[in-house]
Amino acid sequence: MAEQESLEFGKADFVLMDTVTMPEFMANLRLRFEKGRIYTFIGEVVVSVNPYKNLNIYGRDTIEQYRGRELYERPPHLFAIADAAYKAMKRRSKDTCIVISGESGAGKTEASKYIMHYIAAITNPGQRAEVERVKNILLKSNCVLEAFGNAKTNRNDNSSRFGKYMDINFDFKGDPIGGHINNYLLEKMNKKEKKEGFSFFHSPCLKLLFVQLLQGGSDQMLRSLHLQKDASAYSYISPGAQIKCSINDGAEFKAVADAMKVIGFKQEEIQTVYKIVAAILHLGNLKFSVDGDTPVIENSKVVSIIADLLSTKSDMVEKALLFRTVATGRDVIDKQHTEQEATYGRDAFAKAIYERLFAWIVTHINDVIEVKNYDTTVHGKNTVIGVLDIYGFEIFDNNSFEQFCINYCNEKLQQLFIQLVLKQEQEEYQREGIPWKHIDYFNNQVIVDLVEQQHKGIISILDDACMNVGKVTDEMFLEALNNKLGKHAHFSSRKLCATDKTLEFDRDFRIKHYAGDVIYSVTGFIDKNKDTLFQDFKRLMYNSSNPVLKMMWPEGKLSITEVTKRPLTAATLFKNSMIALVDNLASKEPYYVRCIKPNDKKSPQLFDEERCRHQVEYLGLLENVRVRRAGFAYRQTYEKFLHRYKMISEFTWPNHDLPSDKDAVKKLIECHGFQHDVAYGKTKIFIRTPRTLFTLEELHAKMLVRIVLFLQKVWRGTLARLRYKRTKAALTILKYYRRYKVKSYIQEVARRFHNVRQMKDYGKHVQWPTPPKVLRRFEEPVELMQVFCGRWRAGELIRSVPPEVLPQLRAKVAAMEVLKGHRADIGLQRAWEGNYIALVSTSEVISRVAGDKYMNVLFSCHVRKVNRFNKVEDRAIFITDRHLYKMDPMKQYKVMKTIPLYNLVGLSVSNGKDQLVVFHTKDNKDLIVCLFSKEPSNDSRIGELVGVLASHFKRSKRTLQVSVTNPVQCSLHGRKCTVSVETKINQSQPDFTKHRSGFILCVPGN
Ligand SMILES: Nc1ncnc2c1ncn2[C@@H]1O[C@H](COP(=O)(O)OP(=O)(O)OP(=O)(O)O)[C@@H](O)[C@H]1O
Ligand SMILES: [Mg+2]
Repeated sequence: MAEQESLEFGKADFVLMDTVTMPEFMANLRLRFEKGRIYTFIGEVVVSVNPYKNLNIYGRDTIEQYRGRELYERPPHLFAIADAAYKAMKRRSKDTCIVISGESGAGKTEASKYIMHYIAAITNPGQRAEVERVKNILLKSNCVLEAFGNAKTNRNDNSSRFGKYMDINFDFKGDPIGGHINNYLLEKMNKKEKKEGFSFFHSPCLKLLFVQLLQGGSDQMLRSLHLQKDASAYSYISPGAQIKCSINDGAEFKAVADAMKVIGFKQEEIQTVYKIVAAILHLGNLKFSVDGDTPVIENSKVVSIIADLLSTKSDMVEKALLFRTVATGRDVIDKQHTEQEATYGRDAFAKAIYERLFAWIVTHINDVIEVKNYDTTVHGKNTVIGVLDIYGFEIFDNNSFEQFCINYCNEKLQQLFIQLVLKQEQEEYQREGIPWKHIDYFNNQVIVDLVEQQHKGIISILDDACMNVGKVTDEMFLEALNNKLGKHAHFSSRKLCATDKTLEFDRDFRIKHYAGDVIYSVTGFIDKNKDTLFQDFKRLMYNSSNPVLKMMWPEGKLSITEVTKRPLTAATLFKNSMIALVDNLASKEPYYVRCIKPNDKKSPQLFDEERCRHQVEYLGLLENVRVRRAGFAYRQTYEKFLHRYKMISEFTWPNHDLPSDKDAVKKLIECHGFQHDVAYGKTKIFIRTPRTLFTLEELHAKMLVRIVLFLQKVWRGTLARLRYKRTKAALTILKYYRRYKVKSYIQEVARRFHNVRQMKDYGKHVQWPTPPKVLRRFEEPVELMQVFCGRWRAGELIRSVPPEVLPQLRAKVAAMEVLKGHRADIGLQRAWEGNYIALVSTSEVISRVAGDKYMNVLFSCHVRKVNRFNKVEDRAIFITDRHLYKMDPMKQYKVMKTIPLYNLVGLSVSNGKDQLVVFHTKDNKDLIVCLFSKEPSNDSRIGELVGVLASHFKRSKRTLQVSVTNPVQCSLHGRKCTVSVETKINQSQPDFTKHRSGFILCVPGN
């Protein structure tokens, strides 16, 4: 089913085998291993063969190939299963777990690390800092835990001596927000081995850790821990196996120290960790001997070092090592140890310190990554992916209590696999009424029962033996096993089968495990199970002045006389933790990685057919293929199925009207043409191939986009309507408010002006109120109103003026309009006579202009003129509403020149008090004069002349250009010149004189 790769690499899924037989299975497995294809599917199970070499298949680009892909779109890989688990968790809010099983050295831990890296790589697209922190800690914690919990065994250089189950919590977006680690540490002391020169550290992790510390710690640090670099100086490291220090040990030490920092260990805490490790090393070097009857410590200097490292007192350490406090009734006595007891106590103490340290580290990590402040109502469901990497099934030459526990653990996990993959699946087909031919498999429940059954199982028998009063030996325990389990098909011993020479009398028993027969030596079982640590050590540690150490030993608080409940035995504790683990896994949707170890030589080339076949057999892989081939890839209740896929059919979206969900599902399946790939159970639909499911998912995803768009459309519409309504409401409010403001304004205007008719100034002094903002847009009307008001006032004023004065008033207003602010003297205070010549000689003048059909005389006056020939002469001007006449008063006002008023275009006057005026004509024949007034003398008449002419022009709707300047510009027959006004002290009369640029009017200064 997996695509992309040709058959030259073998079949990517064992389900595709032509016949399901062991030879064909093995041939495919071998072919793929040899071609560097270490992963193969059985449906959703990944079979992995340890390549024992680095493959370039875990990089960023490979991650990208698998991200978000369906399981069957890409070649088999751990990433495919990690993605499947992640998707199931994200899509269906399902808690999932990835169970990695296989024997020691098969590659479980490596697989778990790649899975974690994959999950870390594909999450947190938003780069949230908190998610990064959690991811970092999850990844780094592995490094620390491995340093403290891994060992070099003859099966694996980096063997996990602790089982690890790590839960990663995700928020509704699918980003990791925390986690939790459960550890299942297994390091037991073995008295026998100790006698042979091994300690409980004969193979374990601490040896790695010690060596790392000695190699990697700085000189100064080692000095402060009283350590020397030479590992052979420490009996916990040196005896037995030779330590090969790898060059990397130093670097690894640094990596661990860094990881601890990243996780959040404080400097004092890291120091304490080193002190504890060093203290364990020193404990191993303590030597006991007997002085007479009394056991003594030979090297008491070491005691004080230990006391110093553990922050306690030397004499207390010494006492705890050599004596045991026993309470008999109310009396408390110190009982002396024998040399053997003292050594035993010391080793138990060292082991216990190490265990507590490990547990404390795990608790510390959990504290840091624990999900905090998560509120499901706010953040959605918090889902979990669990990754289980536990010690693999192992068979040593000498198998003891630890191997017994490890192998029991693997039996439990195999049972879970059987339960979930083989048994439940087949049972479900039957329950649902799907035609099914039962596939046989070996059910290892019988072995699980042999170990864990209440009262009858090996653990119960062991516990019973430990509870016996008096001296209990391992041999007595074996005897009890023989008595109670003699008939069990999976148990035997030499006593039960005297001919079996592989078993030693009174020492060995054999369990036929699902993965093979294992001979266990009972030696040490009782001791390890009791796992007793003298109370004195607990009190010693509790009283340490180092708070971290004190925290690790809370039960040291108890007084010696307090009777405590007998603690659970090691085996029972282990059993309970296994049962809890399996229950936890069973509650989640499981994904399996089945690891196979190709050979015992750690060789990348060798495919040991025999070893591999054995593993394929006991892992039940062939049965797995059979069930898978005959079975269905996916099942779901009709209701849930509809819930997810109803949108892809018109018959079911949004709701169906068929009699039942089952009918609706049938209709949906048929309308997409999948009917040949499904079976309908009583409550569930079964889909045979993942391809169909994949297609359904694709259709679902496509429709989802449309549904989302539809929802967005509706919602946007709703929002827009809401916004529209609100805007409309706001506009109505605005409208009324403006109306109110305008009304108030008008009312205020009315109030202020209502009495103006009675006022003397007709309300001129009344201030207009400031118009509201809304009226700003209508400035003109407001201004108009003010103008109208002004006009009304003017009207009122004018009405009170006698009609004969009106022309004069109009002329004055016209003069004001053009001259105010420009000229010093306008002569407004005077009464404007207009026809000043008439005052002297009316008849003469009138006769001169008899031909003019004028209506009014506008102005007349005596003047002094200057012409273009610089000739200065006294003349008179006489202006009617039709012409301007220049007359000679000396010749009875003979008309010298007539300028029709329509030829007059403008006037120029100076800004002073002088009487200069220039008449501008259309034909550029300007007339330059200075008004003279004899009676009264020095009358200022310029204002009047300008006002009268302006007023006349205005009424005849013509424009008269009036300019006020000094000098005044003029044009004499087209020649431009200027007339400037100058004041002269000794000048008696105004007079023109020639000047370079024209003329100067000299006026008397007074
Ligand atoms: N995918 C892999 N690529 C390269 N080397 C691998 C791979 N898997 C495993 N190995 C090699 O095999 C060794 C053992 O693997 P690992 O520690 O994962 O075994 P294990 O199954 O966890 O064993 P145990 O049960 O003892 O802990 C690794 O140290 C590594 O050298
Ligand atoms: Mg491991």
